Amino acid sequence: MKALILSGGSGTRFRPFTYSGAKQLLPAANRPILFHIIDKLARTEIKDIGIIVGDNHCEIELAVGDGKAWNVAITYIYQPQPLGLAHAVKTAADFLQDAPFIMILGDNLFRMELTDVIRDYYKKPVNSLILLHISEDPSRYGVAVINRERVVHLVEKPAVPPSNLIITGIYIFDHTIMDAIDHTIPSARGELEITDAIQKQIELGGVVGYALTEGWWKDTGSIDDFLEANRLIMDDIKTDSDSVCSTGREPKMNDSTKQGIVLAGEDVLISDSHLSGPVVLGSHVSITGCHLGPYTVIGDNCVLAGCDIDNSVIMEGARITNLKGRISASLIGKHTVIEKQDSEQIQAPDREYSIYLCIGDDSKIIF
Ligand code: G1P
Repeated sequence: MKALILSGGSGTRFRPFTYSGAKQLLPAANRPILFHIIDKLARTEIKDIGIIVGDNHCEIELAVGDGKAWNVAITYIYQPQPLGLAHAVKTAADFLQDAPFIMILGDNLFRMELTDVIRDYYKKPVNSLILLHISEDPSRYGVAVINRERVVHLVEKPAVPPSNLIITGIYIFDHTIMDAIDHTIPSARGELEITDAIQKQIELGGVVGYALTEGWWKDTGSIDDFLEANRLIMDDIKTDSDSVCSTGREPKMNDSTKQGIVLAGEDVLISDSHLSGPVVLGSHVSITGCHLGPYTVIGDNCVLAGCDIDNSVIMEGARITNLKGRISASLIGKHTVIEKQDSEQIQAPDREYSIYLCIGDDSKIIF
């Protein structure tokens, strides 16, 4: 079996971050979303992974490389325009040839292991197998109707959902999906939808099975969804040696306290601060006079002084000093500077009010 990761979308719902970088490389628990997906694939039998890339291809190729880090081979497939998920599959026809393949959308994060899904596919006499998740808000997604072991009907983002079973971005297909895509016409939003192609596969006599997700699953389509996925991953960190973060060391602490799990990279110095885990810190991080956590992630090379931050992701190279309120549910881009003018002294943050910040890379806020 091969794998295909779709990473070509432009991520308009993730602006301003996608003005300067690929959405699939945003760090969840300090590891790019795409890396989490490749981690899961690398734990299966699969050795051949294709990644569909668009205008973001240089950045993705530079970050992911040739796959040696995961002991897999990665092939990049260029999709010149984001014309839909089914169009992306057709673009990958040369790479896929006639092999069955697992397809994963490059913004999906989930807890379950893929080995079980693949085993399930081989056990069932089906052409396709799709992963379904029970949702309270199905109309934001593709929705499936099932009858016993089979999917009998699928519809993309219906105003009136015919069931509460949403289609996750995890699918296994055999080569018959290609013929179904050839018979699919673009949707109202002008895209060749994979949901419509699977519906066509059923109409052409194909058999589509399903499995239900085990544990959490998240489409990180919006900033709130991304922060929630970040929380869910951090909830799964039970020990200091869990592998979600690159290093996972204990930080050096001066006159500081911590409770819960705090993971840190190399060269992390924490002074006069309190950390309430789960907290994940990158390498070369300096934290002075701060309250951090829970569910806070600080990227490499950040400097924080006099800050109170919870439930937020602060990306690499950010410098934040003496911001009075508590930064909560926020996403702060790479190399952002937020600091109080002329403040030599570190000032204690005021925990009375919260501020929500969504600030793109390289921004400067001096107050
Ligand atoms: C896509 C699919 C949709 C699926 C969702 C899951 O939607 O079209 O069927 O439910 O991914 O992540 P999109 O995120 O492109 O709107």
